[in-house]
Amino acid sequence: MKVKKAVIPAAGLGTRLLPATKALPKEMLPIIDKPTIQYIIEEATDAGIEDIIIVTGKDKKAIEDHFDSSFLLEQTLKNKGKQDELNQIMNISQMAHIHYIRQSEPKGLGHAIWCARKFIGNEPFAVLLGDILVESNKSCLQEMMGSYSKYRSSIIGVTRVDTADVHRYGIVDIENKQGDMYKIKNLVEKPNKEDAPSNLAIFGRYILTPKIFDLLEVQKPGIGNEIQLTDALSALLHHEDVWAQLYSGKNYDIGEKIGYLKTIIEFALQREDLKHDLKPFIKNLSL
Ligand code: UTP
Repeated sequence: MKVKKAVIPAAGLGTRLLPATKALPKEMLPIIDKPTIQYIIEEATDAGIEDIIIVTGKDKKAIEDHFDSSFLLEQTLKNKGKQDELNQIMNISQMAHIHYIRQSEPKGLGHAIWCARKFIGNEPFAVLLGDILVESNKSCLQEMMGSYSKYRSSIIGVTRVDTADVHRYGIVDIENKQGDMYKIKNLVEKPNKEDAPSNLAIFGRYILTPKIFDLLEVQKPGIGNEIQLTDALSALLHHEDVWAQLYSGKNYDIGEKIGYLKTIIEFALQREDLKHDLKPFIKNLSL
């Protein structure tokens, strides 16, 4: 069965970016002129995803409004002859079939995904974390969807991180390797560097089989008293093979201050309309 649906969890409290995230979900924070979550929806639709469910929390309005049509704004842009802006705005509301489900309490990533179970049904599906961006010229999700059609198992995107940083991620323990694919033996959430079985870190892109919902249903809270997806994936290993796919492109964590800042700078340096002014500005700063 082809992967056609995706879940974007966007119901976390975003405490690392307070006070900016007090009334605005971090997934709506702009990278220059586009909210983070719009890049993620573009990534999903470019990879061939047809239906997306966004798991929202207390501030869902901003996300829903962004992807809805906006009659007043469209009319005003039309009247002012601002055709480019009008096209951009109209494209947003036609990007994909976007659905919403509310996570009543932020009980963890695993719980957020479980909230989407009725929408997903008995199909494999993609998960794209709402605060992680990946390089756009190398489609991570598309590669993972290709691997799913070959392996017919859950696939977790991983990247190599410095040993000093393993405590920030879910880390996989692997057995055999086939190209950029590693069969997973075990997974640990946020291990100490002494206990980490590798430096292959889960960064926020997954293809999952629907079996995960049965396991999330009974999953006990783990680290941070949250229902952790990593713990349910460990349980999944008792039922099915799970593979890690090494992604060699860059990923950007906008959920922390320094990550957010670096993302904006890197994205701006790639833009024709900005890089020529920004480069000399940065050079002068570092003198
Ligand atoms: P994070 O752990 O990075 O988000 O979750 P957080 O809890 O909002 O972060 P801090 O530590 O308070 O700053 C990764 C993704 O999972 C979503 C988040 O919105 C983010 O996109 N998430 C997390 C949920 O949807 N629900 C949750 O209960 C937790």
